[in-house]
Amino acid sequence: MNAAASDDEIAKADALVIFGVTGDLARKMTFRALYRLERAGKLDCPVIGVARRTDWGHDTLRSRARESIEETLPDFDEEIFRKLEGRLRLVSGDYGDSSTFDSLKHEIDPDGQHVFYLEVPPSLFASVVDQLGQAGLSEKARVVIEKPFGHDLASAQALQAELLKTLREEQIYRIDHFLGKEPVMDITYLRFANLMLEPVWSREYVSHVQMTMAEPFGVDDRGAFYDPVGALRDVVQNHLLQVLALVAMEPPAGNQPDSIRDKKLELFKAIKAADPDRYVRGQYKGYRDVKGVDPNSQTETFAALELSIDNWRWSGVPFYIRAGKCMPLKQTEVSVVFKRPPHLGVVGSGSLPDPNQLTVRIDPHPGSRMRFVAKAAGAERFEHADLDVLFEKIEGEEPGPYERLLSDALHGRQQLFSRMDMVEETWRIVEPLLTDQRDVEIYEPGTWGPESTDELVKGVCQWYEPWTDGEGGPPSSPS
Ligand code: BG6
Repeated sequence: MNAAASDDEIAKADALVIFGVTGDLARKMTFRALYRLERAGKLDCPVIGVARRTDWGHDTLRSRARESIEETLPDFDEEIFRKLEGRLRLVSGDYGDSSTFDSLKHEIDPDGQHVFYLEVPPSLFASVVDQLGQAGLSEKARVVIEKPFGHDLASAQALQAELLKTLREEQIYRIDHFLGKEPVMDITYLRFANLMLEPVWSREYVSHVQMTMAEPFGVDDRGAFYDPVGALRDVVQNHLLQVLALVAMEPPAGNQPDSIRDKKLELFKAIKAADPDRYVRGQYKGYRDVKGVDPNSQTETFAALELSIDNWRWSGVPFYIRAGKCMPLKQTEVSVVFKRPPHLGVVGSGSLPDPNQLTVRIDPHPGSRMRFVAKAAGAERFEHADLDVLFEKIEGEEPGPYERLLSDALHGRQQLFSRMDMVEETWRIVEPLLTDQRDVEIYEPGTWGPESTDELVKGVCQWYEPWTDGEGGPPSSPS
C-alpha cells in the first residue's frame, strides 16, 4: 500500500449519519448519490438516517430510498440496491433531545470517526452540533453543512461562533455543490495545464468576463425557502463567486489540500465590495403568486452585477454576472472575452465580428469553446470559427457533485468544501447589495431579465447569447 492510500485508509469514516433524511434533499439527491457510490464500489460504511418523524422505521427509510432512486436514476439495479439497503438504518426523535443521540450511539461506535451530514434547516445546525458534543460524538466528527451558511456576514460569523463551541474549523465541511461539478473542476485544469493561456489571461488581453446562470423554471414548490433568500444569496454569493474565483485566481503553489483554497481566498480579498449602482434586481411576473411567497415580495429572482478585482492581473477588467429564474433556457457558463486586435492588416468586407472568447459551459453539456475569427470560404469576409471541446465522454457516467462531495467527506478530503475565511469574504463582497432597498424590476418569464440589465454592460459589451448546441454569439437582449 502506498502512502496516499494509507492516508486515505486512516481518514476513512466509520459511518455516515444523515440528519433530516426524510427531507427533499435526501429524496432528490442523497439516495441517488449513495446508490451511485455503491455502484462504483466507493461506499463501505453504514448509513444511519436520523428523522424527527416518529412514524418512520428502518423499512420506511429503505422504501423511501428505493422510490427516490427509481425516480431519479434510469438504470435501477436490484442487486446494487440490496447492498445499499443493507447499510441503511433509522433513528427517530427530536434533534434537540438527548435521548435521540443516545439511540444514535447504539447504532454507531461512539469512539468511531463519523460523518454527520446536516440536511436540516440552518436554524437547527447549532443545536444538532451541540447535542453531538454533549453525547461525546464530536471529537472525531466531520460535520457536513448545506448552504446557506448564514444570510449575511454577521449571521455567518454568529453561526460559526456557535459551531466552534463544539467543533474545530477543520471538522466543518461546508457544501457548495457547484464545487463538486466536473466542469467546474475542469476550469483549473484548462487554465493551469495549458501554458498558452497564461500569457493572455490578464488585463493586457482580456476585455471583460461574463458569467450566466439561467434557469428556465420558477421557484415552484420552494416559495417558503426562496422568498427570504433571493437570487443573490441563493446562487451568487456561493456558486457563482466560487466559479469566478477559479477563473481569476493566481496559479496554486502546490497540490496541498489548501493550496487552491488559499488562492481563492487571496482572489476574494482582492474583489471590491459590490456597488449597488452596478446591480440589477429583477423579479419574474407571477412570482408573488407562488405558494409561500409574500404577495408584496421584493425578493429578486434575477440578479445582474458588475464586480471589479483590485489586483495586478485584473485591474480595470469588469466581471459581469447574471443569474435568474424563468429565463429562456437552462445554461450556466462563463466567457472570458478578449480585446479586439488593434489594426486589421487583412482585407475583409463588413466589420470585424465579435472578438475572441473562451467559454466554459458548465451546464448543460459541459465543455469549452474557443471562438476565433476566420475568413469565410470563397469570400473576402470575416466569420466566426469555433473550436468546441465537450468534456463528457459518456453522458451521466462521471460522478455527480453530491457523490463526489460525500465521498470526499467520507475520506476527509476538504479541498472542495468552502472554508470560513472564504465564506466571510464572499459575504463582504455582496453585503452592500443585500441592503439595497430599491424595488425589484418585474420581467416577463422566458426573457433575459429586466431591461436595465443591458445598461449594466453598456459601453463595454453586450450580453452574449449562451452557447447552445450549434449556436452562440451576441446578443441576448432583455425583455
Ligand atoms: C441550488 C439553488 O443551490 O442550486 C437552486 O438553491 C438552484 O435555486 C440550484 O436551482 C442549481 O443547481 P444546478 O446544479 O441544477 O445548476
